[in-house]
Amino acid sequence: MKVLVLNGPNLDMLGKRETNFYGSKSYEELKKLIEEFASDLGIEVEIKQSNDEATMIAWLHDAAKLNLPVIINPAAFTHYSYAIRDAIVMVESAKIEVHLSNPLSREEFRHTSVVSGVVDGTISGFGVNSYRLALEAIRDLVK
Ligand code: DQA
Repeated sequence: MKVLVLNGPNLDMLGKRETNFYGSKSYEELKKLIEEFASDLGIEVEIKQSNDEATMIAWLHDAAKLNLPVIINPAAFTHYSYAIRDAIVMVESAKIEVHLSNPLSREEFRHTSVVSGVVDGTISGFGVNSYRLALEAIRDLVK
């Protein structure tokens, strides 16, 4: 089973940005951990990050065409990108929204997710473990 893990803007700056919310691990370290979690669960992962909305949309189109399950941390796009939302709708396989922090405990603009209504579920607030929980959930959804 193969899962596409997509990470949105500024997540490449993990370890340097707002470590009180996102922790001290770098993006490379996060990637390695996701790969380890996936291999423990017998899942193949392809992990990508972009700061660019069009690129994220193109990757979602690929997932739709290839019928791949998707775990997505849309980062700030979560809160306003109807284009990302519309692209997620086209993915017919399982799809899970993840966040390292808990957006609902932060500024008010983060309380809105335009994505939550079109995914199977959302996992937020567990740091890197949000991705592990999402991998477990997606494995069960796809089974
Ligand atoms: C985030 C939460 C978003 O509000 C924020 O814009 C991010 C990261 C998270 O993983 O906690 O960039 O998606």
